[in-house]
Amino acid sequence: MINWINKSSFEIDGYRITLDWAAGGSKRASSERNFTMMKGRDFIDHYTALENTGIEKVLEVGVYQGGSVVFLDRLLRPKKLSAIELSQEAVPALDTYVQNSGGRVNIYYGTSQDESLKINKIIESDFGGEVDFVVDDASHWYEYSKSTFHTVFPRVKPGGYYFIEDWSWSFQPDFQAPSNGWFNQNSLANLAIDLMEDMVNSDGIESIEISRQVIKVKRSNAPGRSPFATTARRSRQMNLL
Ligand SMILES: C[S@@+](CC[C@H](N)C(=O)[O-])C[C@H]1O[C@@H](n2cnc3c(N)ncnc32)[C@H](O)[C@@H]1O
Repeated sequence: MINWINKSSFEIDGYRITLDWAAGGSKRASSERNFTMMKGRDFIDHYTALENTGIEKVLEVGVYQGGSVVFLDRLLRPKKLSAIELSQEAVPALDTYVQNSGGRVNIYYGTSQDESLKINKIIESDFGGEVDFVVDDASHWYEYSKSTFHTVFPRVKPGGYYFIEDWSWSFQPDFQAPSNGWFNQNSLANLAIDLMEDMVNSDGIESIEISRQVIKVKRSNAPGRSPFATTARRSRQMNLL
């Protein structure tokens, strides 16, 4: 249960989470009882809806100052939460949190979301091969995000969810400017279309729900085929009207 303190911060289990988002990264450092989370307020309900739903194993991709690790850990109370982060730079407040978790929470700094071998090892060692809930809030780049999805989604338990945050960045005015550093990156909206295609061509994806903030992919109960099928989409090269 979260208690809002003001428009941009809430308290959960004695920890304050401060929402601080800025293009290029929040500059706010976390402290031991006040963590920075790079999400807007409109993202929060997508997570609070999952409270008390029996999620036991959580994998987060993209950590930053650790606010979302603490938020997810306190909200969902999983038996295990592991998170990977590209940056090698440790977050001291988060490291203290991890030390106090008694081995329940692990952070893997210096790990890119496309390191499938390493991620598979983490899923084996930390979760016994199957994960309940995944959040990809890392690069937001199409190729990297797709790589992570292909590695991890087959390991999501039947009925479990895989969230992809901030899929709509390319539609925001700042990203339309050719001077923007991400201008030439492929839109993450492409991944949404790919997943729709995977859903109908195979039996691994039960459903996909898309809101402005998050793509929520639900793993089906089908144990059999890989969730990824060959491409059957036509008009990929069409001129858009
Ligand atoms: C939006 S921030 C994450 C915020 C965090 N989940 C939160 O809500 O506060 C994105 C993070 O992903 C990390 N990142 C960027 N590219 C990555 C990659 N290829 N693999 C893993 N992490 C990456 C960045 O260093 C950054 O810390």
